Amino acid sequence: MNQLVLASKNPKKLVEMNAILSQLGVEVCSESEAGVDVEVEETGTTFEENSLLKARAVMEASGMPAIADDSGLCVDALNGAPGVYSARYGGEGLDDVGRYRLLLENMRGQMPRTAKFVSVITCCFPNGDVITARGECPGTIAFSPMGEGGFGYDPVFFLPSLKKTFAQLSPEEKNAISHRGKALEAFRVKLEDYLKQE
Ligand code: IMP
Repeated sequence: MNQLVLASKNPKKLVEMNAILSQLGVEVCSESEAGVDVEVEETGTTFEENSLLKARAVMEASGMPAIADDSGLCVDALNGAPGVYSARYGGEGLDDVGRYRLLLENMRGQMPRTAKFVSVITCCFPNGDVITARGECPGTIAFSPMGEGGFGYDPVFFLPSLKKTFAQLSPEEKNAISHRGKALEAFRVKLEDYLKQE
């Protein structure tokens, strides 16, 4: 096994996964390179369920091992919201800025402002084996947006230890501490062990 299909249409994720997994001699290819185009409804209520749904659907369509990630922002004072609904928070009409503005509005007067980003990576193999890895990054919700970098909720996700939001970090600085960076590193270790047993 040296090729995985990424269950995503996001080319940035493909580059990020390859940068880490190429160390194991594993190449991650896109759905189109694998000759599949899979639309998966994210009907799960956990990051684990949704990443499994995506990875399994692409593994079944391609016949190849497939990897997927699911991520989001969980805010303590909002009982974990937006959570698995992070990309859809506030409905279809909102863009990234609209979503973080809604979050700031919903956080007005709320305490504590603690939150965490979560990323779960799942890899499904045609023989039924499954590898899952989770990464978390704790922080707080800022009172107003700061920074121009990143995407999504980055301008309002504040790291007290660095006194900066995710949007004020370089991509390298963010990857070193982010939920996705941690999940990918945990996944790399588990995949390395799995490949040794094969
Ligand atoms: P996914 O692509 O289904 O995993 O959706 C994840 C959603 O969570 C994104 O659309 C963002 O709203 C949010 N999200 C996940 N990771 C990050 C991040 O690193 N920065 C900002 N927002 C993120």
